[in-house]
Amino acid sequence: MMPTSNLQARKQISQRHTGSTRYAGACWAGLGLALLLTGAVLACRSTGAGPSMPASIEGQRLYVAHCAACHGATGRSDGPAAIALDVRPRDFRREPTRYISTLNGVPTQEDLEQTILSGRRFGAMPAHPHLTDSDVVILANYVREINRLGWVDRLIEQFEEEEEEYEAEQVEAISHRRVKPGEPIHVPYVPSGFQSDTATGRKLYIDRCASCHGTTGRGDGLDKPKDERGRAITVRDLTLGEFRGGIGREELFKRIRCGIPGTPMPAQEGMDNEEMWQLVYYVEFLAGRRW
Ligand code: HEC
Ligand code: HEC
Repeated sequence: MMPTSNLQARKQISQRHTGSTRYAGACWAGLGLALLLTGAVLACRSTGAGPSMPASIEGQRLYVAHCAACHGATGRSDGPAAIALDVRPRDFRREPTRYISTLNGVPTQEDLEQTILSGRRFGAMPAHPHLTDSDVVILANYVREINRLGWVDRLIEQFEEEEEEYEAEQVEAISHRRVKPGEPIHVPYVPSGFQSDTATGRKLYIDRCASCHGTTGRGDGLDKPKDERGRAITVRDLTLGEFRGGIGREELFKRIRCGIPGTPMPAQEGMDNEEMWQLVYYVEFLAGRRW
């Protein structure tokens, strides 16, 4: 059947690449009760809490039905189903989105839509192929709005800590800027005549990546790695090939170029296209995809 929109076309392609998540089955079991609980929590909040929830009623309805069980009624990653997961759901209030295609650390609309549609394989974020295109768009906007409210909280805390005076409009304006995505990076074609070469890839890898990922890629280069909030995380074992942002080469290119916000993994600058592709191929090589 022909896809009827771009979003559906992407859905079909991304499903082919990423499949569904390993953990989703287990998670859905506890979800019925979880939804009832979060629904109740949200209902309480939305009567008394005024502007702390985003404005879109439809966004809120969809969010409660599909996301709140894990991400929490107010986006703080404290939904009842979250406890059962190996990988913590993202806290939309305080944590940046990790798998993105911009250099300013803010996801594009497409990054968010893709996450919602395809989920994050290896990471317990389920795919949502049953949602309509417009539901996905509304949910992506809703998540961004929760991100923005998280910034409002943090900005107010910051002003108060520094005992500075502030106006509500000023906080609103800054918060809107903080969730505005930069230009998505352009993933270039593999240069013509390109030959992947393990020795070149390895040299780049040792210079730029081994300090964290270890000389053999097993993720053992850093002592007690932490995320930006000081919580313990693991550096990915690249030999497992478990790339949450997607297993395609284009996705790997984006991960290396843009880094992973909220974690120590930096964006990479100063490499030409040829070098970037050598690294992408070397990461695939480490993951056991020999060419
Ligand atoms: C079964 C629990 C579960 C449900 C339901 C769920 N998520 Fe997630 N979500 C997660 C987990 C776990 C992560 C962290 C994934 C990772 O780090 O690999 C995550 C991550 C995310 C991210 C961040 C991705 C990134 O690149 O950092 C977004 C955005 C997101 N979820 C949106 C949603 C939305 C919107 C819904 C509802 C349509 C939803 N999630 C439903 C568990 C869930
Ligand atoms: C300062 C430490 C650090 C450096 C340097 C670093 N990384 Fe990472 N990398 C991490 C951490 C931490 C994670 C796990 C992040 C997470 O769980 O979301 C990670 C995750 C990854 C992933 C998994 C992406 C995905 O989709 O799940 C890839 C691929 C990767 N790094 C490749 C590289 C390459 C290639 C380099 C060198 C250009 C590099 N990293 C440099 C810390 C680092």
